[in-house]
Amino acid sequence: MAASLQVFMKEQQQMLDEALKESVERIQAPADLVDSMKYSLLAGGKRIRPIFLLATLSVLGVDLNKGKEAACAVEMIHTYSLIHDDLPAMDDDDYRRGQLTNHKVYGEGMAILAGDGLLTHAFHVLTNPSHDVKPHIIVDMVNELSRYAGPAGMVGGQVADIQGEEKSLTPEELRYIHEHKTADLIVCAVRLGAILAETSQEKRDDLTQFARHIGLAFQIQDDILDEVGDEKKLGKQVGSDRENKKTTYVSLYGLEQARAFVASHIKQAQDLLTRIEPQSDILFELSEFMVARES
Ligand code: IPE
Ligand code: IPE
Ligand code: MG
Ligand code: MG
Ligand code: MG
Repeated sequence: MAASLQVFMKEQQQMLDEALKESVERIQAPADLVDSMKYSLLAGGKRIRPIFLLATLSVLGVDLNKGKEAACAVEMIHTYSLIHDDLPAMDDDDYRRGQLTNHKVYGEGMAILAGDGLLTHAFHVLTNPSHDVKPHIIVDMVNELSRYAGPAGMVGGQVADIQGEEKSLTPEELRYIHEHKTADLIVCAVRLGAILAETSQEKRDDLTQFARHIGLAFQIQDDILDEVGDEKKLGKQVGSDRENKKTTYVSLYGLEQARAFVASHIKQAQDLLTRIEPQSDILFELSEFMVARES
């Protein structure tokens, strides 16, 4: 990883960890609920989505402080999706972020509610920025986040994912799942950066194309790591997809072809980026990291 990206990621991960901790600790709610939310939210995680949002701001020359709450909101929604994804009714997984899954520690009822809590609290955070963000920009962000994380976005993708179990899906069906369950939130993170930067609609659309390639590459790499990854590095068990009889890029195309898809999406993302925003080293290097990642 390039040294400059390493510094950027470390600094932003630290900022996010502190902001997320402070935000949940201030919630007036039953102590067990707050504990359960904190358990998953503060267990590490790469913070890729908020980092994409912040990197977009950095490339577009906006003060990163302006995006702090939006970045936290995206990570809260992502963490809620992981807690629910691991439930027995969905992927039924025992480990996440290097520790037992939320329901294994707090029980299913509390895990469902901790997810609900993170989802709704995300919008509370997004609408209470600590820096100067114009009201119409906040409304735009609420609109985008609810759209990309909701039924037409991530939730819809998760539905298609569980409905696809034990069936052999077509490439189009699998692409729909990947695009929505995973790419949509990454697309949303980049779009929130563009909204905060008040870019033109055209630039927002170009950045959307860039982020879609990143999101697809990210999920194909996740499928690959579920086959050949190292559980210690990943912090979750491998072989979950095979056990749940999911169609993945690996099951459909084989490992080598899946790797070629990752490389191709990253290349397309980088080509687009070079055209849209020539001075975008951090986003370019982040794209590189998507292919190399082992966790
Ligand atoms: C896992 O996401 C779920 C997918 C959409 C592939 P991450 O790989 O970003 O998980 P964390 O946040 O680092 O734990
Ligand atoms: C999860 O996809 C996508 C969401 C949580 C929205 P996976 O089920 O492949 O993620 P992992 O492998 O459990 O992290
Ligand atoms: Mg899943
Ligand atoms: Mg899963
Ligand atoms: Mg997976």
